Amino acid sequence: MLKDTWRIWDNDLKYGDLLFRRATGEAEEMESSKSLCEALKPIYRPGMKVLDVGCGAGHYLLSLRKRLDPKISYTGLDATAYYVSLAQKAFPGVGFVQGDILKLPFWDGAFDLVICNNVILHLPPPPTKAFSELIRVSKKHTVIRTMFGVRNYIIREVGIAEELPGLPENEADLIGPDGEPAMFNYFNLYSERYVRSVVARLSPESRVRIESDTRFQSFDNRKEGGVSGTVVINGQQIAGNVIVDSRFIFIAK
Ligand SMILES: C[S@@+](CC[C@H](N)C(=O)[O-])C[C@H]1O[C@@H](n2cnc3c(N)ncnc32)[C@H](O)[C@@H]1O
Repeated sequence: MLKDTWRIWDNDLKYGDLLFRRATGEAEEMESSKSLCEALKPIYRPGMKVLDVGCGAGHYLLSLRKRLDPKISYTGLDATAYYVSLAQKAFPGVGFVQGDILKLPFWDGAFDLVICNNVILHLPPPPTKAFSELIRVSKKHTVIRTMFGVRNYIIREVGIAEELPGLPENEADLIGPDGEPAMFNYFNLYSERYVRSVVARLSPESRVRIESDTRFQSFDNRKEGGVSGTVVINGQQIAGNVIVDSRFIFIAK
């Protein structure tokens, strides 16, 4: 079921447009999509059916074709209808589906490789159901990129009704009458120990490997996006005040 936290993406047309420019090659590839391609090299084999969950405008497909396999068999799924329409426009003939990571519209084991980048951190906790769905529709490999912490942290960025990144302009953005922010985006950090325990419960036979994503170049997005833009300081990515410790989780059945 699509949760309310969902609407932040629906309202964020500008972000979708940026993803579309990435998908068409007009804007630069993301460091994480380049890095994902490197991370996939040891496990990807031509002919594999790949599912990209939370695909946005399908922009990772451009990197996957360029860096991994120009003929890759790719399907993208995203919950935001506008992003899916942009993906279809950028890649006519490729399968893009609107759907929810918590209820994937695919059979068990329908894909050889399921990828999910930068989505888990934004979902309402716990991430167990999302992990369970990703692993369920994968025949063999699931590769998830998300943010880690030394311990588990549930973080909410507030005041993002108009666009990302934003600031709480009024108190209702910060805390509404029910004591909860009207709009927010999760930026949750999970510990390796927790993630391993979730996967062990869901799929005891699977092998799990977790690898830090340190392949990114120095960059500074603050000038493009404002205060929440990402910057690299001493080799460490920082978004706003959050240390972005992104890692790839490789799950093999
Ligand atoms: C931060 S973006 C990441 C996009 C892309 N994977 C990347 O790394 O650039 C998060 C994406 O997840 C999608 N998303 C959020 N909740 C979702 C859900 N419940 N099911 C499917 N997609 C979801 C959003 O629409 C958005 O496109």
